[in-house]
Amino acid sequence: IAAMIGGGPLAGRHVVVTSGPTHEPIDPVRYIANRSSGAQGTALAQALVELGAEVTFVTGPAAAPLPDHVRLVQVETAREMADAVQAALPADVAIFAAAVADWHVEGARNQKIKKTPDGAMPALEFAENPDILATVSKLSDGRPSLVIGFAAETEKVVEHATAKRARKGCDWILANDVSDATGIMGGSDNAVTLISDAGAEAWPRMSKKDVARRLAQKIVDAFADETR
Ligand code: CTP
Ligand code: CA
Repeated sequence: IAAMIGGGPLAGRHVVVTSGPTHEPIDPVRYIANRSSGAQGTALAQALVELGAEVTFVTGPAAAPLPDHVRLVQVETAREMADAVQAALPADVAIFAAAVADWHVEGARNQKIKKTPDGAMPALEFAENPDILATVSKLSDGRPSLVIGFAAETEKVVEHATAKRARKGCDWILANDVSDATGIMGGSDNAVTLISDAGAEAWPRMSKKDVARRLAQKIVDAFADETR
C-alpha cells in the first residue's frame, strides 16, 4: 500500500535482488541446476516493495511465483545474471539471494550429445562462473552502500559464513543451513544467522516471508541510523 501511494520508509531507494537458481547448459536439451526455488528472493522483493523500494529483480528460472511491482529481469545462466546485475546498477542496496551455479560447462555442445554404441560416457569440463556478490562488494566506484549475501552451508554454518563474508567483502551475510535434514532449500521456512560487523545474530526458524520482512526492516533501520 505504501508503495502504491509512493511512500514508505524505503521510498526512493533502489534495491537489486538476485534470486532463484541458474541453469548452465550442457547441450540444447540438458542443463545443470540446483534446488533453489526462488521463494526467499521473491519474499524479499515483495517485502521491499511493500516498504516503498524500487526493486530490480534479477532471477534465474525459478519455480516460485514472481514478485509484483518490480523491474523484472529474467536470465538463465550465471554469466547472464552477472551482466544483468551490472546493468541494473547503481543501487542503494544489493541482495544476493540467488543460488548461482559455481561452474558452467566449458564448450557446451550445439547439438544434443548422443549415446555411443560402445557405451562411452561423455566427459564434461567445467569453468568457474563469475562471483557476482564478490564483484559488486569490491566495486571501487558505485558500490551499493549495503551489500547483502546469503551463505548456503551444510556444516559449520556460522564459521563458514563468517569466512565467506570476509572473503567476499559484503556488509551482511545471512547464513543458512541447507543440509538435507533442514528441508530449507525448496521449503517454505528458513533458519538464518545474520552476520555483520556487530557479530552473529541467530534468528529463530520462521517462514521465508518473515525472514524477508525482518531483513527489510533491518535495512530500514540501517538507513535510519545513517541519517541520524
Ligand atoms: N554468489 C554469487 N555469484 C556466484 C556464487 C555465489 O553472487 N558465482 C552469491 C550467492 O548469491 C550468495 C553468496 O554469493 O549470496 C554465497 O553463495 P555460496 O554458494 O554460499 O558461496 P560460494 O562463494 O559460491 O562458496 P561455496 O559454494 O563453495 O560454499
Ligand atoms: Ca556456491
